[in-house]
Amino acid sequence: MTTPTAVEAIDLVKRFGETTAVDGVSFTVPEGTVLGLLGPNGAGKTTTVRMLTTLSVPTSGSARVAGYDVVANPEEVRHSMGLTGQAATVDELLTARENLWLIGRLAGLPKELIKPASDDLLDRFSLTDAAHRIVKTYSGGMRRRLDLAVSLIAAPPVLFLDEPTTGLDPRSRNDLWEVLRGLVADGTTLVLTTQYLEEADQLCDDIVVVDKGKVIAHGTPTQLKDQAGRASVVLTIADFADLSRAEELVRSVMPEVYAEPGARRLTAPAEGLSDMTRIGTIIAEAGIGVDDLGLQRPSLDDVFLHLTGHRAEEGSSEESDGASGSSVGSGDSGGTRRSGRSGPSGGSGTETEFEGAIR
Ligand SMILES: Nc1ncnc2c1ncn2[C@@H]1O[C@H](COP(=O)(O)OP(=O)(O)OP(=O)(O)O)[C@@H](O)[C@H]1O
Ligand SMILES: [Mg+2]
Repeated sequence: MTTPTAVEAIDLVKRFGETTAVDGVSFTVPEGTVLGLLGPNGAGKTTTVRMLTTLSVPTSGSARVAGYDVVANPEEVRHSMGLTGQAATVDELLTARENLWLIGRLAGLPKELIKPASDDLLDRFSLTDAAHRIVKTYSGGMRRRLDLAVSLIAAPPVLFLDEPTTGLDPRSRNDLWEVLRGLVADGTTLVLTTQYLEEADQLCDDIVVVDKGKVIAHGTPTQLKDQAGRASVVLTIADFADLSRAEELVRSVMPEVYAEPGARRLTAPAEGLSDMTRIGTIIAEAGIGVDDLGLQRPSLDDVFLHLTGHRAEEGSSEESDGASGSSVGSGDSGGTRRSGRSGPSGGSGTETEFEGAIR
Protein backbone atom coordinates (compact mmCIF):
# COMPACT_ATOMS: atom_id res chain seq x y z
CA MET A 1 0.00 0.00 0.00
CA THR A 2 3.01 2.31 0.02
CA THR A 3 3.05 5.07 -2.57
CA PRO A 4 5.40 4.31 -5.46
CA THR A 5 8.64 6.27 -5.52
CA ALA A 6 9.00 8.93 -8.22
CA VAL A 7 12.52 10.10 -7.47
CA GLU A 8 15.26 8.49 -5.48
CA ALA A 9 18.74 9.84 -4.79
CA ILE A 10 21.21 7.51 -3.12
CA ASP A 11 24.39 8.99 -1.74
CA LEU A 12 24.90 11.32 -4.69
CA VAL A 13 28.31 12.91 -4.95
CA LYS A 14 29.57 15.42 -7.49
CA ARG A 15 33.08 16.76 -7.53
CA PHE A 16 34.48 19.47 -9.76
CA GLY A 17 38.24 19.17 -9.31
CA GLU A 18 38.88 20.19 -5.71
CA THR A 19 35.30 21.30 -5.11
CA THR A 20 32.81 18.79 -3.75
CA ALA A 21 29.57 20.43 -4.85
CA VAL A 22 27.34 17.57 -3.66
CA ASP A 23 28.62 15.40 -0.85
CA GLY A 24 26.47 12.31 -0.28
CA VAL A 25 22.90 13.48 -0.77
CA SER A 26 20.09 10.94 -0.39
CA PHE A 27 16.33 11.31 -0.41
CA THR A 28 13.16 9.68 -1.69
CA VAL A 29 10.17 11.42 -3.24
CA PRO A 30 6.88 9.49 -3.29
CA GLU A 31 4.69 9.97 -6.36
CA GLY A 32 2.40 12.98 -6.25
CA THR A 33 4.32 14.77 -3.51
CA VAL A 34 6.54 17.84 -3.38
CA LEU A 35 10.12 17.73 -2.19
CA GLY A 36 11.98 20.96 -1.54
CA LEU A 37 15.74 21.26 -1.64
CA LEU A 38 16.39 24.26 0.55
CA GLY A 39 19.77 25.87 0.91
CA PRO A 40 21.88 28.98 0.47
CA ASN A 41 23.93 30.00 -2.58
CA GLY A 42 26.43 27.33 -3.51
CA ALA A 43 24.79 24.64 -1.36
CA GLY A 44 24.68 22.21 -4.28
CA LYS A 45 21.00 22.46 -5.22
CA THR A 46 21.45 23.02 -8.95
CA THR A 47 24.16 20.39 -9.15
CA THR A 48 21.84 17.87 -7.51
CA VAL A 49 19.04 18.72 -9.92
CA ARG A 50 21.44 18.45 -12.87
CA MET A 51 22.40 14.92 -11.82
CA LEU A 52 18.77 13.92 -11.37
CA THR A 53 17.86 15.30 -14.78
CA THR A 54 20.76 13.58 -16.61
CA LEU A 55 22.54 16.87 -17.40
CA SER A 56 25.46 15.87 -15.24
CA VAL A 57 26.91 12.46 -14.41
CA PRO A 58 27.35 11.73 -10.68
CA THR A 59 30.91 11.23 -9.47
CA SER A 60 29.45 8.48 -7.30
CA GLY A 61 26.12 7.37 -5.94
CA SER A 62 23.02 6.75 -7.98
CA ALA A 63 19.58 8.10 -8.70
CA ARG A 64 16.34 6.96 -10.24
CA VAL A 65 13.54 8.97 -11.78
CA ALA A 66 10.24 7.23 -12.48
CA GLY A 67 12.06 3.98 -11.85
CA TYR A 68 14.83 4.61 -14.39
CA ASP A 69 18.46 4.93 -13.48
CA VAL A 70 19.84 8.35 -14.47
CA VAL A 71 23.13 6.89 -15.68
CA ALA A 72 22.00 3.61 -17.23
CA ASN A 73 18.74 4.89 -18.78
CA PRO A 74 19.08 8.64 -19.35
CA GLU A 75 16.77 8.58 -22.37
CA GLU A 76 13.90 7.07 -20.37
CA VAL A 77 14.54 9.48 -17.52
CA ARG A 78 14.29 12.44 -19.88
CA HIS A 79 11.01 11.17 -21.25
CA SER A 80 9.60 10.95 -17.74
CA MET A 81 10.46 14.43 -16.54
CA GLY A 82 10.34 18.11 -17.20
CA LEU A 83 12.85 20.70 -16.05
CA THR A 84 12.54 24.40 -15.43
CA GLY A 85 16.12 25.50 -14.97
CA GLN A 86 17.39 28.34 -12.84
CA ALA A 87 18.09 30.50 -15.88
CA ALA A 88 15.36 31.22 -18.40
CA THR A 89 15.30 28.81 -21.27
CA VAL A 90 12.65 30.26 -23.53
CA ASP A 91 13.62 31.95 -26.77
CA GLU A 92 13.12 35.70 -26.44
CA LEU A 93 12.57 36.29 -30.13
CA LEU A 94 9.74 33.80 -30.42
CA THR A 95 6.19 34.14 -29.15
CA ALA A 96 4.87 32.00 -26.31
CA ARG A 97 3.02 29.84 -28.79
CA GLU A 98 6.13 29.38 -30.94
CA ASN A 99 8.19 28.42 -27.90
CA LEU A 100 5.62 25.82 -26.92
CA TRP A 101 5.50 24.51 -30.48
CA LEU A 102 9.27 24.26 -30.71
CA ILE A 103 9.71 22.40 -27.43
CA GLY A 104 6.67 20.23 -28.14
CA ARG A 105 8.23 19.15 -31.42
CA LEU A 106 11.62 18.58 -29.80
CA ALA A 107 9.90 16.42 -27.20
CA GLY A 108 8.45 14.36 -30.03
CA LEU A 109 4.83 15.34 -29.44
CA PRO A 110 2.52 14.76 -32.44
CA LYS A 111 1.65 18.05 -34.17
CA GLU A 112 -2.07 17.66 -33.60
CA LEU A 113 -1.53 17.39 -29.86
CA ILE A 114 0.64 20.47 -29.51
CA LYS A 115 -2.11 22.99 -30.25
CA PRO A 116 -4.59 21.76 -27.60
CA ALA A 117 -1.79 21.20 -25.07
CA SER A 118 -0.52 24.75 -25.72
CA ASP A 119 -4.02 26.20 -25.36
CA ASP A 120 -4.41 24.49 -22.04
CA LEU A 121 -1.04 25.61 -20.70
CA LEU A 122 -1.44 29.20 -21.90
CA ASP A 123 -4.77 29.31 -20.14
CA ARG A 124 -3.47 27.70 -16.97
CA PHE A 125 -0.57 30.15 -16.77
CA SER A 126 -2.70 33.19 -17.72
CA LEU A 127 -0.75 33.79 -20.91
CA THR A 128 -3.51 33.41 -23.47
CA ASP A 129 -3.74 37.15 -24.18
CA ALA A 130 0.02 37.42 -24.61
CA ALA A 131 0.42 34.20 -26.57
CA HIS A 132 1.24 35.94 -29.84
CA ARG A 133 3.66 38.49 -28.43
CA ILE A 134 7.39 37.85 -28.58
CA VAL A 135 8.80 36.89 -25.20
CA LYS A 136 11.16 39.86 -25.20
CA THR A 137 8.17 42.05 -24.34
CA TYR A 138 7.18 39.92 -21.32
CA SER A 139 7.65 40.81 -17.67
CA GLY A 140 9.85 38.61 -15.49
CA GLY A 141 6.81 36.90 -14.01
CA MET A 142 5.35 36.14 -17.44
CA ARG A 143 8.66 34.66 -18.61
CA ARG A 144 8.88 32.48 -15.55
CA ARG A 145 5.34 31.24 -16.15
CA LEU A 146 6.17 30.51 -19.77
CA ASP A 147 9.33 28.69 -18.66
CA LEU A 148 7.14 26.45 -16.58
CA ALA A 149 4.52 26.03 -19.28
CA VAL A 150 7.19 24.96 -21.75
CA SER A 151 8.58 22.37 -19.38
CA LEU A 152 5.08 20.94 -19.03
CA ILE A 153 4.22 20.61 -22.72
CA ALA A 154 4.97 16.91 -22.76
CA ALA A 155 2.96 16.41 -19.54
CA PRO A 156 5.81 14.84 -17.58
CA PRO A 157 4.88 12.92 -14.44
CA VAL A 158 7.91 14.34 -12.63
CA LEU A 159 8.84 18.00 -12.73
CA PHE A 160 12.09 19.55 -11.53
CA LEU A 161 12.05 23.25 -10.78
CA ASP A 162 15.27 25.07 -9.98
CA GLU A 163 14.35 28.17 -7.99
CA PRO A 164 11.04 28.66 -9.78
CA THR A 165 10.15 31.97 -8.15
CA THR A 166 13.48 33.67 -7.62
CA GLY A 167 13.24 37.26 -8.77
CA LEU A 168 9.47 37.35 -8.79
CA ASP A 169 7.45 39.84 -6.79
CA PRO A 170 5.29 38.45 -3.96
CA ARG A 171 2.12 38.50 -6.03
CA SER A 172 3.62 36.63 -8.99
CA ARG A 173 5.17 34.22 -6.53
CA ASN A 174 1.77 33.51 -5.00
CA ASP A 175 0.24 33.03 -8.45
CA LEU A 176 2.91 30.55 -9.39
CA TRP A 177 2.45 28.64 -6.14
CA GLU A 178 -1.22 28.30 -7.03
CA VAL A 179 -0.34 26.86 -10.42
CA LEU A 180 2.12 24.43 -8.84
CA ARG A 181 -0.48 23.30 -6.31
CA GLY A 182 -2.79 22.63 -9.24
CA LEU A 183 -0.18 20.44 -10.90
CA VAL A 184 0.33 18.45 -7.72
CA ALA A 185 -3.43 18.05 -7.34
CA ASP A 186 -3.38 16.52 -10.83
CA GLY A 187 -0.78 13.99 -9.72
CA THR A 188 2.52 15.55 -10.78
CA THR A 189 5.53 14.93 -8.56
CA LEU A 190 7.59 18.05 -7.92
CA VAL A 191 11.19 18.45 -6.88
CA LEU A 192 11.98 22.09 -6.40
CA THR A 193 14.95 24.03 -5.14
CA THR A 194 14.50 27.24 -3.28
CA GLN A 195 16.26 29.75 -1.13
CA TYR A 196 12.94 30.95 0.18
CA LEU A 197 11.97 29.44 3.47
CA GLU A 198 8.41 30.52 3.04
CA GLU A 199 8.21 28.86 -0.35
CA ALA A 200 9.37 25.56 1.10
CA ASP A 201 6.87 25.97 3.91
CA GLN A 202 4.01 26.75 1.54
CA LEU A 203 4.59 24.09 -1.08
CA CYS A 204 6.59 21.17 0.19
CA ASP A 205 5.50 17.94 1.82
CA ASP A 206 9.11 17.22 2.64
CA ILE A 207 12.12 19.45 2.90
CA VAL A 208 15.76 18.52 2.54
CA VAL A 209 17.96 21.29 3.90
CA VAL A 210 21.37 21.33 2.22
CA ASP A 211 24.41 23.34 3.13
CA LYS A 212 27.86 22.91 1.57
CA GLY A 213 26.79 19.84 -0.38
CA LYS A 214 25.48 17.94 2.62
CA VAL A 215 22.00 17.26 3.93
CA ILE A 216 21.84 19.00 7.29
CA ALA A 217 18.18 18.29 8.00
CA HIS A 218 15.27 16.43 6.48
CA GLY A 219 11.60 16.38 7.40
CA THR A 220 8.18 17.89 6.93
CA PRO A 221 7.94 21.65 7.51
CA THR A 222 6.30 20.94 10.87
CA GLN A 223 8.96 18.45 11.93
CA LEU A 224 11.70 20.90 11.06
CA LYS A 225 9.99 23.66 12.99
CA ASP A 226 9.56 21.38 15.99
CA GLN A 227 13.30 20.75 15.92
CA ALA A 228 13.90 24.41 16.45
CA GLY A 229 11.83 24.49 19.62
CA ARG A 230 8.26 25.55 20.06
CA ALA A 231 8.85 29.28 20.01
CA SER A 232 11.59 31.89 20.32
CA VAL A 233 11.99 34.99 22.39
CA VAL A 234 13.32 37.74 20.19
CA LEU A 235 14.93 40.71 21.87
CA THR A 236 16.11 43.84 20.09
CA ILE A 237 18.52 45.97 22.11
CA ALA A 238 18.34 49.75 21.80
CA ASP A 239 22.07 50.36 21.91
CA PHE A 240 24.58 48.17 20.07
CA ALA A 241 27.13 48.76 22.86
CA ASP A 242 24.94 46.71 25.23
CA LEU A 243 24.61 43.72 22.94
CA SER A 244 27.29 41.42 24.27
CA ARG A 245 26.35 42.16 27.90
CA ALA A 246 22.72 41.40 27.05
CA GLU A 247 23.76 38.20 25.29
CA GLU A 248 25.60 37.03 28.40
CA LEU A 249 22.62 37.80 30.59
CA VAL A 250 20.21 35.93 28.35
CA ARG A 251 22.63 33.03 28.15
CA SER A 252 22.59 32.81 31.93
CA VAL A 253 18.87 31.99 31.91
CA MET A 254 18.37 30.28 28.53
CA PRO A 255 20.11 27.20 27.09
CA GLU A 256 20.58 28.64 23.56
CA VAL A 257 21.08 32.20 22.35
CA TYR A 258 21.90 33.55 18.92
CA ALA A 259 23.13 37.08 18.36
CA GLU A 260 22.74 39.11 15.20
CA PRO A 261 24.90 42.14 15.78
CA GLY A 262 23.75 44.02 12.67
CA ALA A 263 20.15 43.92 13.82
CA ARG A 264 21.05 44.30 17.55
CA ARG A 265 18.92 41.22 17.97
CA LEU A 266 19.10 38.19 20.26
CA THR A 267 17.03 35.08 19.65
CA ALA A 268 16.52 32.31 22.18
CA PRO A 269 14.43 29.17 21.57
CA ALA A 270 11.89 29.18 24.38
CA GLU A 271 9.01 27.34 25.96
CA GLY A 272 6.59 30.19 26.33
CA LEU A 273 5.67 33.45 27.98
CA SER A 274 7.50 32.68 31.20
CA ASP A 275 10.81 32.64 29.33
CA MET A 276 10.00 36.00 27.81
CA THR A 277 9.21 37.44 31.19
CA ARG A 278 12.43 36.06 32.62
CA ILE A 279 14.49 37.61 29.85
CA GLY A 280 12.61 40.91 30.09
CA THR A 281 13.21 41.10 33.83
CA ILE A 282 16.91 40.30 33.77
CA ILE A 283 17.52 42.80 30.97
CA ALA A 284 15.49 45.53 32.65
CA GLU A 285 17.28 44.95 35.97
CA ALA A 286 20.59 45.43 34.20
CA GLY A 287 19.35 48.79 32.93
CA ILE A 288 19.70 47.80 29.27
CA GLY A 289 17.42 49.68 26.88
CA VAL A 290 15.17 47.54 24.69
CA ASP A 291 13.60 48.41 21.32
CA ASP A 292 11.49 45.31 21.10
CA LEU A 293 10.79 42.11 22.96
CA GLY A 294 8.46 39.40 21.74
CA LEU A 295 7.61 35.74 21.47
CA GLN A 296 7.74 34.27 17.97
CA ARG A 297 6.44 31.05 16.55
CA PRO A 298 9.34 29.25 14.90
CA SER A 299 9.65 29.80 11.19
CA LEU A 300 11.84 27.81 8.86
CA ASP A 301 14.21 30.71 9.28
CA ASP A 302 14.60 29.74 12.93
CA VAL A 303 15.19 26.19 11.81
CA PHE A 304 18.04 27.35 9.67
CA LEU A 305 19.40 29.36 12.55
CA HIS A 306 19.15 26.36 14.82
CA LEU A 307 20.89 24.08 12.33
CA THR A 308 23.68 26.31 11.16
CA GLY A 309 24.11 28.83 13.96
CA HIS A 310 23.46 31.73 11.61
CA ARG A 311 20.28 33.33 10.43
CA ALA A 312 19.30 32.82 6.83
CA GLU A 313 20.03 36.27 5.44
CA GLU A 314 23.30 36.58 7.26
CA GLY A 315 26.61 36.03 5.58
CA SER A 316 26.24 38.00 2.43
CA SER A 317 27.04 41.38 3.95
CA GLU A 318 24.00 42.88 5.67
CA GLU A 319 21.26 43.77 3.23
CA SER A 320 23.83 44.50 0.58
CA ASP A 321 22.03 43.09 -2.40
CA GLY A 322 18.64 44.45 -1.48
CA ALA A 323 17.12 41.01 -1.85
CA SER A 324 13.57 40.91 -0.63
CA GLY A 325 11.79 38.23 1.28
CA SER A 326 13.16 35.71 3.67
CA SER A 327 15.92 34.06 1.77
CA VAL A 328 18.76 31.78 2.66
CA GLY A 329 21.64 33.90 1.52
CA SER A 330 24.31 32.65 3.83
CA GLY A 331 27.99 32.79 3.18
CA ASP A 332 29.25 30.78 0.28
CA SER A 333 32.05 28.41 0.97
CA GLY A 334 33.76 28.80 -2.36
CA GLY A 335 33.73 32.55 -2.32
CA THR A 336 33.42 32.68 -6.07
CA ARG A 337 29.69 33.12 -6.32
CA ARG A 338 27.79 36.33 -6.05
CA SER A 339 24.93 36.82 -3.70
CA GLY A 340 22.77 38.43 -6.37
CA ARG A 341 20.02 36.26 -7.70
CA SER A 342 19.90 37.19 -11.34
CA GLY A 343 22.74 35.28 -12.92
CA PRO A 344 22.65 31.72 -14.13
CA SER A 345 24.17 29.08 -11.94
CA GLY A 346 26.73 26.59 -12.95
CA GLY A 347 30.05 28.19 -12.31
CA SER A 348 32.98 28.04 -14.60
CA GLY A 349 31.65 25.66 -17.19
CA THR A 350 34.14 22.92 -16.61
CA GLU A 351 31.31 20.60 -17.44
CA THR A 352 29.46 20.72 -20.70
CA GLU A 353 27.65 17.38 -20.95
CA PHE A 354 24.29 17.89 -22.60
CA GLU A 355 24.48 21.59 -21.84
CA GLY A 356 21.55 23.05 -23.67
CA ALA A 357 20.67 19.76 -25.29
CA ILE A 358 17.14 19.77 -24.04
CA ARG A 359 16.41 23.33 -24.99
N1 LIG B 1 30.44 23.30 -13.60
C1 LIG B 1 31.04 23.56 -12.43
N2 LIG B 1 32.38 23.60 -12.31
C2 LIG B 1 32.98 23.87 -11.13
N3 LIG B 1 32.31 24.12 -9.97
C3 LIG B 1 30.99 24.10 -10.03
C4 LIG B 1 30.26 23.83 -11.24
N4 LIG B 1 28.94 23.87 -10.98
C5 LIG B 1 28.84 24.17 -9.67
N5 LIG B 1 30.06 24.31 -9.09
C6 LIG B 1 30.32 24.62 -7.67
O1 LIG B 1 29.58 23.70 -6.88
C7 LIG B 1 29.02 24.34 -5.75
C8 LIG B 1 27.50 24.14 -5.74
O2 LIG B 1 26.93 24.87 -6.81
P1 LIG B 1 25.39 24.83 -7.18
O3 LIG B 1 25.22 25.65 -8.43
O4 LIG B 1 24.93 23.43 -7.21
O5 LIG B 1 24.75 25.56 -5.92
P2 LIG B 1 23.28 26.06 -5.69
O6 LIG B 1 22.85 25.50 -4.39
O7 LIG B 1 22.43 25.77 -6.88
O8 LIG B 1 23.47 27.63 -5.52
P3 LIG B 1 22.54 28.88 -6.01
O9 LIG B 1 21.51 29.06 -4.93
O10 LIG B 1 23.48 30.03 -6.05
O11 LIG B 1 21.95 28.54 -7.34
C9 LIG B 1 29.46 25.79 -5.82
O12 LIG B 1 30.58 25.95 -5.00
C10 LIG B 1 29.80 25.98 -7.27
O13 LIG B 1 30.75 26.98 -7.45
MG1 LIG C 1 21.40 26.93 -8.19
